[in-house]
Amino acid sequence: MQTLTVGLAERSYPIHIGTGLLGRHDLLLPYLPHKRAAVVSNTTVAPLYLESLLGTLGKHGVGIVPIILPDGEKYKNAETLGLVYDTLLRERCERNTPLIALGGGVIGDMTGYAAATYLRGVPFIQIPTTLLAQVDSSVGGKTGINHPLGKNMVGAFYQPLVVLADIATLDTLPDQELRAGIAEIIKYGLIRDLPFFEWLEQNMEKLLARDAAALQYAIAHSCQNKAEIVGADERESGERALLNLGHTFGHAIETGMGYGAWLHGEAVAAGTIMAADLSRRLGWISEQDAVRTRRLFERAGLPVIAPDLGAEKYLQLMGLDKKVVGGKIRFVLLEAIGRATVTGDVPEELLRQTLAACVKHE
Ligand code: NAD
Ligand code: GLY
Repeated sequence: MQTLTVGLAERSYPIHIGTGLLGRHDLLLPYLPHKRAAVVSNTTVAPLYLESLLGTLGKHGVGIVPIILPDGEKYKNAETLGLVYDTLLRERCERNTPLIALGGGVIGDMTGYAAATYLRGVPFIQIPTTLLAQVDSSVGGKTGINHPLGKNMVGAFYQPLVVLADIATLDTLPDQELRAGIAEIIKYGLIRDLPFFEWLEQNMEKLLARDAAALQYAIAHSCQNKAEIVGADERESGERALLNLGHTFGHAIETGMGYGAWLHGEAVAAGTIMAADLSRRLGWISEQDAVRTRRLFERAGLPVIAPDLGAEKYLQLMGLDKKVVGGKIRFVLLEAIGRATVTGDVPEELLRQTLAACVKHE
């Protein structure tokens, strides 16, 4: 097992990464002094892993309130969140009752937001079970839900007490979901870590084959990058915005296509190709680096062509991005492989060229 730390002074917390961690009561009990917790999961993950977690905690006298939500991005909304509050209130969960998220990024984001808001804040624990959640969403404290008009538009920064990434849970993850997680892994290489990008070029087949050592390395390396960024810029006033590479386009794809039609990681992949294309049109990266970027996503089996929502629709949806300032869309773009920056200075003509060139033409 490896343990990393997100350094946020008195709110610092560990990220444990390893195999078989669902059985490690010693990693959880310190956060459950009142011997009671609510576990939020969904109809897919609960049958696979809830019993194991209940066994681990039950043996040590921890009483669990299970909350099983419907599965899917389309349920990451206020109505489903209401179901969490309903159970917490019905079961008389108190301020000292931690909420444990057991699932992917959808469960993690919603549970975190419930924890941030129920009784004005209760302790929160992340047990991510998708690759995407283990490398990105469980770390850093962004929590929230979607709004019909925009992705992740309602939420709060609320850090967990501990993150437990059990790599064994990835055994049951469908291949398409594994690939979606790889999109966020490639992101770290592109925005700040050229050696990691090169490692991914050399080890992509191992990752796709779920080689345990390769997964452990990629997850730990991703979490290390994320921990450093969050430790330096928790509330996204600077470097943290770089984690949104590909997301301005990607969130437009997710909202425009209807939540769940494209996996988040898939939308980020196609969105990152659009960001690389725009970076090339601005003269920031070479044609060769744009091709190199695209090639890695292709090798990961991720989509590199975005759906044709129409330029006007893209512009309208991107206008709702959280990075918009004074009505101006700001993009995370590449200055090189391994270096990214945020800019609002993009000529509309070039943006329209990207929106025309990177979408699927029937
Ligand atoms: P997800 O939570 O929908 O999980 C993907 C699918 O895998 C679901 O059907 C889920 O039930 C299933 N699943 C989960 N674990 C499994 C397992 N071990 N075995 C079999 N099936 C399993 O999707 P995701 O890709 O994990 O997360 C995407 C969400 O995360 C999006 O809503 C996105 O906005 C959010 N996100 C948040 C942050 C953040 O910083 N908070 C960062 C990136 C993404
Ligand atoms: N996934 C983006 C962030 O955590 O900031």
